[in-house]
Amino acid sequence: MRVLTGIQASGKLHIGNYFGAMKPMVDLQEENELFTFIANYHSLTTSKDAATLKQYTIDAAVDYLSIGLDPNKTTFWVQSHVPEVLELYWILSKFTPMGLLERGHSYKDKVARGIPANHALFSYPVLMAADILMLDTQIVPVGKDQIQHVEMTRDIATKFNNEYGDIFTMPEHKVAAEVATIPGIDGQKMSKSYDNSIDLFMEEKPLQKRCNKIISSSTPLGEPLAWEDDNIYALASLFLDETQKQELQRRYKSGQEGYGHFKKYLKELIWEELGEAREKRAYYLSHMDEVNDILALGAKKAQSIAQSKMEEVRQAVGL
Ligand code: ADP
Ligand code: TRP
Repeated sequence: MRVLTGIQASGKLHIGNYFGAMKPMVDLQEENELFTFIANYHSLTTSKDAATLKQYTIDAAVDYLSIGLDPNKTTFWVQSHVPEVLELYWILSKFTPMGLLERGHSYKDKVARGIPANHALFSYPVLMAADILMLDTQIVPVGKDQIQHVEMTRDIATKFNNEYGDIFTMPEHKVAAEVATIPGIDGQKMSKSYDNSIDLFMEEKPLQKRCNKIISSSTPLGEPLAWEDDNIYALASLFLDETQKQELQRRYKSGQEGYGHFKKYLKELIWEELGEAREKRAYYLSHMDEVNDILALGAKKAQSIAQSKMEEVRQAVGL
């Protein structure tokens, strides 16, 4: 199956992103023809300044490569390196009724949160449709908030195909297997906006300090600890198989260890899980030319598909 995923680069990635989005995406490359791009035209709609947008784009590339996105299996590029998508975006705009965009949840949510309403924010779904349709995408893995965008893409493709013949492949969304919401150090959903996250690539000491800040109950030392609603346990269990979870539960119940021990254990688990990724990341950070080559090669591959699709489209509409 041809699968397309778009990454919105928005700064440092955390453990919630890792288990909720990054790992599931990387797993897809084993059995599909995976296309993944960094959606920097989309990020422009909410970007603070040029330097930040640039930095976030390159950081996302390095981080995804580090955690196992394999450029030999996956076509990986930066959206703006294949500008054909903007031509398709314009053409598709003609097949996008105003009412369709006016019903957009994501647009309405963003405006409600105080982001100024402008045309890019409003027409964001049309650009997403162009991303998807330009590459004959079959499957788009999405979070629930993005399902509507894939439905809009299907509406737009249907209108176009009805008028000009079967030019576009009809994509389907696939909601990724429900990953439980990963808690932050305060027990709420981990999010960079709540200042409760544990970042993926921290140095060892700051990582331990961050783990030490996890809020847990104040059971006195010597008494059994409840693992069921403990944040340290919830985070640690992400890294453990069934047997290891039971062993950790036993340690909680034994009453012989305090939360401090479990915070150390959690730090070890995070540190170990990301050992290989950290090494790869250090490598890529000192070989940025390689990262740029990977992205350039990915852009070339995506572009060659995009160009032949665009020829078909231009011819169909009479350009
Ligand atoms: P943040 O809330 O930190 O701004 P984003 O909204 O940028 O995170 O999320 C990027 C991706 O990571 C999304 O696919 C989202 O589902 C996933 N994700 C983020 N936080 C969590 C979490 N706490 N638990 C599970 N998945 C998460
Ligand atoms: N809108 C998506 C998000 O916020 C990112 C995205 C842009 C995307 N274009 C896409 C995702 C095409 C899948 C396919 O997460």
